[in-house]
Amino acid sequence: MRVEIRKATHEDLLEIMKIEQQIFKKEAFPEYFMRSVLRNHLLFFTIFEIKDEMRELIGYVTVLQEGHDRVNIINLAIKPSAQNKKYGTLLLDYTINRIKMMKNIKKIRLNVKTKNAIAIHLYRKRNFKIVKILKNYYSNKEPAYLMELNL
Ligand SMILES: CC(C)(COP(=O)(O)OP(=O)(O)OC[C@H]1O[C@@H](n2cnc3c(N)ncnc32)[C@H](O)[C@@H]1OP(=O)(O)O)[C@@H](O)C(=O)NCCC(=O)NCCS
Repeated sequence: MRVEIRKATHEDLLEIMKIEQQIFKKEAFPEYFMRSVLRNHLLFFTIFEIKDEMRELIGYVTVLQEGHDRVNIINLAIKPSAQNKKYGTLLLDYTINRIKMMKNIKKIRLNVKTKNAIAIHLYRKRNFKIVKILKNYYSNKEPAYLMELNL
């Protein structure tokens, strides 16, 4: 089995939106938003599993620039059937390395649900620190942690 990570394309959007809706349900980003992230040349990577000549899109990550020296990982998702196989770690590592190659970027930020233990563990493993709790952050009033990684 092989794995490939590459820039997302408009042809990937249908599969990306299926995963986005399956995982985030009512909180999923709408397609027009994901399309605009792609169009605006921000970082947007997809990860594929390749087995017996079959290529399956199994996850993606989106990164937006926030000011001149900071980016925000706004979304990282691996489809449920492919979770817990280290693909999330691989995609996060690839993304951090690509961000490190961007001139002037000193900090990566993200928000994560305080109850999302797996994602928090993943980010902590890569040295992200919780810097703030954001009460009522999500539309259903759930809190989030603001996490940061200084590069
Ligand atoms: C969070 C997410 C991206 C992690 O990707 P993944 O490919 O499943 O994670 P990995 O296999 O790389 O594992 C990362 C760590 O979490 C642990 N982990 C993953 N799934 C787990 C599970 N179901 N139960 C317990 N631990 C788990 C792994 O053991 C690993 O820890 P380790 O390196 O110390 O052994 C993925 O679970 C996901 O898409 N979740 C839903 C969307 C989401 O929450 N995104 C983050 C929003 S900010």
